[in-house]
Amino acid sequence: MATINSNYDKLGGGYLFPEIGRRVRQFQAEHPGVKLLKLGIGNTTEALTPAVIDGLLAGVERLAHVETYTGYADDSTGETEMKKALQLFYRRFNVSLDLAEIFVSDGAKPDSGNIQSIFGIENVVAVQDPAYPVYVDTNVIAGRSGAFDARTGQYQGIIYMPCTQENGFFPQPPEEKVDLIYLCSPNNPTGAVATKEQLKIWIDYARARQSVIIFDAAYSAFIKDATLPRSIYELDGAKECAIEISSFSKVAGFTGVRLGWAVVPQALVVEGAPAGKVNWLWARRQNTFFNGASNIVQAGGVAALSDAGQKECQGLVDYYMNNARVIREGLQNLDYICYGGVNAPYIWMKTPHGLSSWEFFDLLLHDAHVVGTPGVGFGPSGEGYFRLSAFGHAADIEQAVASIRDHLKRQ
Ligand code: MLT
Repeated sequence: MATINSNYDKLGGGYLFPEIGRRVRQFQAEHPGVKLLKLGIGNTTEALTPAVIDGLLAGVERLAHVETYTGYADDSTGETEMKKALQLFYRRFNVSLDLAEIFVSDGAKPDSGNIQSIFGIENVVAVQDPAYPVYVDTNVIAGRSGAFDARTGQYQGIIYMPCTQENGFFPQPPEEKVDLIYLCSPNNPTGAVATKEQLKIWIDYARARQSVIIFDAAYSAFIKDATLPRSIYELDGAKECAIEISSFSKVAGFTGVRLGWAVVPQALVVEGAPAGKVNWLWARRQNTFFNGASNIVQAGGVAALSDAGQKECQGLVDYYMNNARVIREGLQNLDYICYGGVNAPYIWMKTPHGLSSWEFFDLLLHDAHVVGTPGVGFGPSGEGYFRLSAFGHAADIEQAVASIRDHLKRQ
């Protein structure tokens, strides 16, 4: 008799974004003809840039001729040209990587969900609270948690590290020993960015305990302040304790195209496993479960990392960051308290008048016709906060801010 993975039954509810989508569809069914302004999921809206289009077309062209056609890659961890382009990309931050340390994938979401599978089930997981829901949900599914406690909004056995106004939305290491630590900077959802000093504290903590930091750098291209680290490997010692995950989604508009990467350093050490073992495990995992990112898409990724591609992608980043400024300033003019949106494409606002995150979601949807993301969907410390995404057409963003001004000012 087959049985199910009953860990799924522990999950507190549906995955956050489909749940928002369900509520939005219901609203639209009840209010046909109303135009909604969507600042919810961080979904890119602007067209791919010319250099990237040329790269993708060149990838297609190679498949059009028997002489240049390729099928399965020899190694599903990425094409050499793609890895070399990423190696060069890291050199810009004075980070040197072996090609074997770079694993190309179909995105940061699958990598941040799958990476836990190479670690023992007994590892204690620590997450920033609030956090991108994939980190917690995948560890729950794997069996690294107890039941969901509706009273605290937490899964038993997972260590939640509150990210609040008081700590600048970046946590200090906890008192207890934790083994797998998920850090995201620039942070989704709070828009906070860790400083080098803050990351150093974590690196020292992890090295002293042979813990592993899973560093999600998917939004690093949005950092404008040159003093802030764009890769954890800019810090000494990080290769001994950190895996970095990143993405082309937001910077190159690949949310639908799908391309990302993980760096698993050879120097990484964990309890009972020598240097090189974790790197080998991830290669083994990827070669078993994955046949590699699309070769066409990798050609697009190489183009995105070329000088011309980087310049154009910077144009996309600037476009979305101008949206972030419009949202942040627009809300601040209305006396809302906002964070983020300076080195990150998310604005994290305090809900007014003590409204819960979901109450504010409903208010914004029904009165201003704006869709955002309730902070509590990212963890219990997100209660009383709300996330607005800067990904969208500039005209829609302007309209959304105007609509909030016109409809919510007197709430
Ligand atoms: C978000 O809105 O949090 C992200 O766009 C979701 C994702 O990248 O999967």
